[in-house]
Order: sequence, then structure tokens, then C-alpha cells
Amino acid sequence: MADTKDATSSNQMWGGRFASGPDAIMEEINASIGFDKKLFAQDIRGSIAHATMLAEKGIISHQDKGKIVEGLNTIMSEIESGRFEFSRQLEDIHMNIEARLSVLIGPAAGRLHTARSRNDQVALDFRLWVKEELVKTEAMLTALIAAFLDRAEEHAETVMPGFTHLQTAQPVTFGHHCMAYVEMFGRDRARVRHAIDHLDESPIGAAALAGTGFPIDRHMTAKALGFREPTRNSIDTVSDRDFALEFLSVAAICAMHLSRLAEEIVLWSTPQFGFVRLSDAFSTGSSIMPQKKNPDAAELVRAKTGRINGSLVALLTIMKGLPLAYSKDMQEDKEQVFDAAENLELAIAAMTGMMRDMTIRTDRMRAAAGSGYSTATDLADWLVREAGLPFRDAHHATGHAVALAEKKGCELAELSLEELQAINPAITQNVFDVLTVDASVASRQSFGGTAPSEVRKQIAYWRNRN
Ligand code: ARG
Repeated sequence: MADTKDATSSNQMWGGRFASGPDAIMEEINASIGFDKKLFAQDIRGSIAHATMLAEKGIISHQDKGKIVEGLNTIMSEIESGRFEFSRQLEDIHMNIEARLSVLIGPAAGRLHTARSRNDQVALDFRLWVKEELVKTEAMLTALIAAFLDRAEEHAETVMPGFTHLQTAQPVTFGHHCMAYVEMFGRDRARVRHAIDHLDESPIGAAALAGTGFPIDRHMTAKALGFREPTRNSIDTVSDRDFALEFLSVAAICAMHLSRLAEEIVLWSTPQFGFVRLSDAFSTGSSIMPQKKNPDAAELVRAKTGRINGSLVALLTIMKGLPLAYSKDMQEDKEQVFDAAENLELAIAAMTGMMRDMTIRTDRMRAAAGSGYSTATDLADWLVREAGLPFRDAHHATGHAVALAEKKGCELAELSLEELQAINPAITQNVFDVLTVDASVASRQSFGGTAPSEVRKQIAYWRNRN
């Protein structure tokens, strides 16, 4: 006997979690209103610009345009004040707003969608949203850079060990280390600006994919919405999500930088390093170990990077292999971008706060700067400069000095002149001038080097560069 079960009831094999039949499943997989309601303001702005252009071009009457704009403004305030009821049956933000418009103003609402499709509409809304987010990110990076510049200025002379392989390499200044991050976040900011420049073209008017037979003016809508110009190919316009991918790439690189900083803060705030003390605002205690102060905010920033990278890879993978033009796959773009944006903002804000608040333990940094034979290169350089040795020979002689100091359990500067002369007879008393960390950093005046004088020049450069 054939199964005559009602098609709307839940499927016995796989429908357990659904209250009703396939229609409900379709609605659940299809609807984007749960997340694309974030685009309401952009959707309404886009519709007002579109309706205004339609009226200017005589495609709809000025009277209908007046009703449409008034209705849309009402909807804007309904949504802003939380009085709007979103419906999942209406799928997405575009149809939710249009349906409400028709309740508010009647048949004139049906004229708004002339010469437009949800394909160019969503491309517009999302571009406007990403553009605003990029502008916000740019300002947040400027604030982060300012925090680093202030710390760099304060600590232009503070010595600390510089590392390679996380092994003490050469003394540097903390100001110089801070300026390394200024360069990184400065590049991120430049990438943000480039992304804004790239996306600054208006998609509206591409319609479903082929353009429209109505005499629209895409330059007019582009101008009204603050875009430089309209996009130039209607097929590309509705199938392109490069602007979202560029946002995510920029975000992923920036998050990677934030994560390196986070890792340094985690290390620096351990009792073993003890280079910084985090403010209470950006750390937490342990529920069992009373002595602990954990760098949770830094750890979470480090972790956010994984999430943001994930969003980039997700959207690249969603877009890969999609035939032109629009496919519904592209609806999955928004959650990735929204999640990455929210978390990038949080991470930048947390780092800005942490950098401003943390106490720099200059005594600990100085003590560490001098340990680990960090001025060995200065001894080798001295032998080249003052005794005329080829660098390779100087390197060799210095290696003997380090081995001797290690054997004696002392620093290089604690070796006697006689001991050093036994290694190389050309060594004189004034070698001790270069073996201190202050002399070491002060000598590195090459462009972009760690000398306080050079660091101050770079700070001045960045202060003048917005
Ligand atoms: N909610 C859809 C999205 O986010 C809007 C575009 C729908 N277009 C379509 N042809 N079904 O992509």
C-alpha cells in the first residue's frame, strides 16, 4: 500500500526536529531575515535613492515617489525603535520592508521595485554596509596607532632585549618595538583605504543581471548614495562579492597582527618575563589560584584571529566555482562578514585599551636587555671598526669571548681587559664603552634603526601622516 501521509506533516525518517513538513524546512534554509535585518538602514537608503531617480526620470509619478519615501521613513523609525515585526515567511530584509510599505501606502508600494531586482538590491545594501564598516575600521586603527605612538614616545629610551627565534638577540628600545606595530597597523589602514576605494562603485541598476529597458540614470543613484560612479558590467555587478572578500582579507591580516601582539603581551605579562603589568581592566583572576592575573583579553584577541581567518576561507570557498551571475549560495556571505567585523572591532578596541593601560616595567626590561650576551654583535663590530678585523674573524673572536663569559658565569662587560686581550691583543679599554646596552642601542642610528634619535624621527613622521 502506498504511504498516504499528509505532505505537510514531518517526515518520519529525518523530520524529527522540524515542527512541520518540507515547507518549514524550505523556509528555514531559505530565510536570511535572521541576519540580513542588519541591512535595514542601507536597504531603505537605497530604496529612497532608487525611487527618487525613478521619479526624476518620469518612470514613476512624483506623487507615488512622495508616498514611497514617506512610508520608508516610517519603516526606518519603526525598525529603529524596535516596533517592526520581522517575518521569516517574507525571507529577507528586502521583502520584509516592501511588504510593510504596501501595508502603509497601498498600491504605490508596488512601483518601487520597477527596474530593480533583489540581486542588485542586496549587492547595494551589502556594499554600503561594508563601506561603512571599513570607514569605522579605519578610524579604530588610527586610534590604535595613536596609542602606540604615545607609548613609543614615552619609551623611546627604554631598553629591552630584541629577539630572534625568541632568543635574546640584540638590545632594542621599547619605543622601537612599539613602532614596529605602528608600521603593521599603518599598512592595515592603507589596505582598508584601498578596499574602500575599490568598492566605491554603485551596483543599483544592474537589475537581475542584464540591466533594464527602463530609462534609468545610474549615475544619479550612484551620486545620491555617495559612490564615485556606477559599476560597469551588470553581470559582474550581481555576481561579485570581491568587496566582502577584500574586507575579510584585510580583517584577516589585521587580526594576524593583533594576534602577534596578543602573544607578546601574554609572554611579557608572565612572572618569568615580567616586562609589563596588565591593568585590572584587561585581566582576570583565577577562581582557585589567588595569586594569578590572567591575560584573558589578549588570549581572546589571539583566538579571534582563527575565527576571522575562518570567515575569509568560508566565503572564498562559497564563491569558488559559482557560475555567473547570482546564485543563492551568495546569501551565505553576510554572516561571515558580520561576524568578522564584530570580532575585529572588539579585538582592535581591546588592544587599544590594553596598550594604553599597561604598565611598562622598565627595570625588568633593562635587566633582561643586558643578559644573554646581547651586546656580542657590538663587540664584533668594535673589532672591525677599531682593530680593522674582517667581520668573520671578529665574529669568531667574539664567540671565544662569549664562551669564556659563559664558563665564568658572567656578562661580557664583566670580563677583564686582560682576558679580552688574550682573545685578541688589539682590544683596548674603550671596548667597554660599546658593551653596555645603552651604548649599543644609541649606536644603531641607521635609517629605521633602534637608536632613540632614530625612533623619535619615525614617531614624528607617523604623527604627521594621517
Ligand atoms: N536574501 C538574498 C541574498 O541575501 C537576496 C537576493 C535574492 N535574490 C534572488 N534571486 N533570490 O542573497
